[in-house]
Amino acid sequence: MHTHLSAFPDSPAKDNPGFATRLVTLTVNGNPVVLDVQPWVSLLDALRDRAGLTGTKKGCDHGQCGACTVLCDGERVLSCLSLAVMKDGSEITTIEGVARDGVLQPIQQAFIDHDAFQCGYCTPGQICSAIGLMREGKAKSRDEVKELMSGNLCRCGANTQIIDAIMKVQENQTR
Ligand code: FES
Ligand code: FES
Repeated sequence: MHTHLSAFPDSPAKDNPGFATRLVTLTVNGNPVVLDVQPWVSLLDALRDRAGLTGTKKGCDHGQCGACTVLCDGERVLSCLSLAVMKDGSEITTIEGVARDGVLQPIQQAFIDHDAFQCGYCTPGQICSAIGLMREGKAKSRDEVKELMSGNLCRCGANTQIIDAIMKVQENQTR
């Protein structure tokens, strides 16, 4: 028997009562965002494809590269591994919301000062992860920062400069 599998599971499913969508309300970069999503849509896809915030990058889509890191209620999370429906009511910060009123955060400036990116693909995730890491307050030494940033891969090999940038900001904060 021939079984029909749709090439576009998202769109036909929307009209199929068997695949009910759910309204998810998020605060994204300070703005209320209401999305009508199927239960299996990741937070990453919801942000990129539904909310139009393409600053957050999709690398592996499997929790292994950190490119999709965003801040959820202040904590860094891998948005490819989070379902949008599970984040209903959460406050999300993406790279688009890190600078305020056109003023870069110290970590963004430090990335520029320390040449901490080349192609820039990993950078949004690295910056969100670095902000989360500094909030956690666990990493003091260079080795600890390195260890706790190890979930964010940089294929261009900018890791040393990324750690330099984070160390500099931490140093300035404790002065
Ligand atoms: S895209 Fe989420 S960890 Fe790679
Ligand atoms: S700057 Fe290219 S992947 Fe990190």
